[in-house]
Amino acid sequence: MNDRIISSKTRLCGVIGDPIEHTMSPAIHNAGFTKLGLDYLYVPFHVRKGELGKAIDGMRALNIRGLNVTIPHKVTIIPLLDELDPLAERIGAVNTVTNDDGVLKGYNTDASGFLQALLKRGIKPKGKNVVILGAGGASRAISFILAERGAHLVILNRQLKKAEELSSRLSTTFEKEVKALQLAAENLAQVLDGADILVNATSVGMSPDINETPLPSNLLKPGLIVVDIVYNPIKTRLLREAEEAGTETVSGVDMFVWQGVLAFEIWTGVKAPIELMRAEVIKGLQGHEKR
Ligand code: ATR
Repeated sequence: MNDRIISSKTRLCGVIGDPIEHTMSPAIHNAGFTKLGLDYLYVPFHVRKGELGKAIDGMRALNIRGLNVTIPHKVTIIPLLDELDPLAERIGAVNTVTNDDGVLKGYNTDASGFLQALLKRGIKPKGKNVVILGAGGASRAISFILAERGAHLVILNRQLKKAEELSSRLSTTFEKEVKALQLAAENLAQVLDGADILVNATSVGMSPDINETPLPSNLLKPGLIVVDIVYNPIKTRLLREAEEAGTETVSGVDMFVWQGVLAFEIWTGVKAPIELMRAEVIKGLQGHEKR
């Protein structure tokens, strides 16, 4: 941000969450703003659970243009907004907010970013058998968009009850059966037989636990597409073992970059410089890995 002049005209964006110290979002958005000469600035805000209402009042009072929303606020922010994009409404989670003259609208670019990451690789969900590991917030967004696009889903989770709740919501919304199973080796072996795509939507394998994987490597077979939403490290153990087994892989970096690109475009109305934003993420993550 060498020669940037911050003035009363500068439009402010940011991310709210707890914890917030490892976010890569300021790096990608500020790099994009600078590259395109947009008079915008993006900052991280550490907002704890009980402070969300005040933070949203602050967004209005300070005329903040846009926010990303992360753990633990993606669901609880909904009643504080004026409008919801239909996808965010159906998912029941928001990760991006715009402020148009005091009207706050929520979007879910986690879901559309995930979809975009697949589509850009030529992977179309329609008719595919998809195995999803995890039933938390990220899984909720991903499974909704995949079901909406006509994929057949099986959801496995450590806590079976959460998988059952999510699958029953999806089954009702899309009027088709979504199976729920316990995340265990024998179930994995069974559902991967005949699967086209495997998505790890758990946090297993995330730094610092980089030697963990949600899946025994002998279940990885050529022909399967393996998608990991974990992006730190860039190449998780799951993705490494998937490559070794000859499967196609999609890294969590793609989804992260795309959710950011879509938020950037919602706030600015300008096409985001995606390659530059991706390079920023990779640079930042390689910095982490060296530390
Ligand atoms: P996110 O918003 O990233 O999805 P989350 O809502 O906390 O975060 O969900 C984390 C997911 O990772 C859950 O599916 C969780 O499984 P449980 O619901 O059973 O807790 C899964 N997860 C986290 N650590 C795990 C582990 N060691 N083994 C298996 N699953 C794990």
